[in-house]
Amino acid sequence: MADLMDQIVALAKRRGIAFQSSEIYGGLRSAWDYGPLGVELRRNIRDAWWRATVQLRDDVVGLEAAVIMSPKVWEASGHVGTFHDPLVECLACHQRFREDDLSGDPRTCPNCGNRAFTEPRQFNLMFKTHMGPVDDASVAYLRPETAQGMFVDFPLVQSASRKKVPFGIAQIGKSFRNEITPGNFIFRTREFEQMEMEFFVEPGTDDEWFSYWVQQRLNWYVALGIRKEKLRLRDHEEDELAHYAKAATDIEYEFPFGWQEVEGIANRTDFDLRRHQEASGEDLSYFDQEKEERYLPWVVEPAAGVDRVLLTFLVDAYREQEAPSAKGGTEKRTYLALHRDLAPVKVAVLPLSRNEQLMPTAREVFDLVKREWMCDYDDAGSIGRRYRRQDEVGTPYCLTVDFDTLDDRAVTVRDRDSMTQDRVPLAGVVEHLRGGFDG
Ligand code: GAP
Repeated sequence: MADLMDQIVALAKRRGIAFQSSEIYGGLRSAWDYGPLGVELRRNIRDAWWRATVQLRDDVVGLEAAVIMSPKVWEASGHVGTFHDPLVECLACHQRFREDDLSGDPRTCPNCGNRAFTEPRQFNLMFKTHMGPVDDASVAYLRPETAQGMFVDFPLVQSASRKKVPFGIAQIGKSFRNEITPGNFIFRTREFEQMEMEFFVEPGTDDEWFSYWVQQRLNWYVALGIRKEKLRLRDHEEDELAHYAKAATDIEYEFPFGWQEVEGIANRTDFDLRRHQEASGEDLSYFDQEKEERYLPWVVEPAAGVDRVLLTFLVDAYREQEAPSAKGGTEKRTYLALHRDLAPVKVAVLPLSRNEQLMPTAREVFDLVKREWMCDYDDAGSIGRRYRRQDEVGTPYCLTVDFDTLDDRAVTVRDRDSMTQDRVPLAGVVEHLRGGFDG
């Protein structure tokens, strides 16, 4: 199964989805750049999340907070004091590991096989930096979660949006953690992007809202095509709960490297609002006008990472099959069965050849569809190879413009999954595709 990861990493690099950052300098461990198709895929993932979490609801609003917040935020939130992982060093090869990542009894170094380690020490995962002239007073942190923006801005957003509890604040943005053991391609990195939502509820209604959001979030993955049998829910044991949480459930996916968390849903109680209220001296409570009661809301938080979710969609969509070859017989076909909302390119326009007579009509077709969807125009190589290229990045439809098009004003619409081909009049092609995308 490890092979599958190698195939996906190779495909991602070859097709400009994601590749090692700063590769000409030997690369930077755990940092990845997203190329032209990766950018589209990320944007589609963010859009799908935003649409489900904010746009289609009337009880969630958006926020974009600064990455560098006051250092007092991280003291109050508990991150300066407790956002640690246990770090051990192998006494033979001096590689460093997260203690809980080591397996075996006795524990064995994955690098050299040695079994002796230093005592664990608590390693804070926040990236520390300085703002302005460097002195002790200028210490600042890159945020390790976007959530704190929603807590410290809670009263401002609530009064500006005039939302009543229960309501949520959503944010998508970069977070940073100095992970001891990043790895598995874009699964665990030191710079990543989060999609988080803090849902503020009346105390006592939190359990109900917690179950609701676990179900909503699970449904989101299934609606976007992830195979149900590859997903499971896992409740956190008491001893693994984050310092702020009363309960937490992970949505896990069966990756080639095992079952792992894709997203976490936590009941954060009123921990964060209470801590910020105490530390800032500002009143962060909410006045419920109907009940004429003032209280600190409790918070239910679904939190996912764009990069990790992207990896989940890639792994789940990756397919290999034997397909008819243009030369007769069969050949291996690799395709991404990505949901149409996520596919980086929705439609590819392929003139049969670079013949001068075909060009104007092919361009006309491209102009017609590019207004509706992200499209690609590809006239390089044999038509069979061009289909394969589009399959490999999950393009749902290819439109082939051939010499008959010049007479009958129709194109061939080829479907990625079934590989069926339909002849469709140019005048109706946008409608035809719309039917496919909406269906
Ligand atoms: N605000 C709560 C929070 O940050 P978390 O479980 O630590 O909770 C939420 O992170 C999600 O963010 C994870 O489920 C994962 O998708 C993503 N994530 C966390 N650390 C990551 C890392 N080092 N690399 C990539 N994604 C990460």
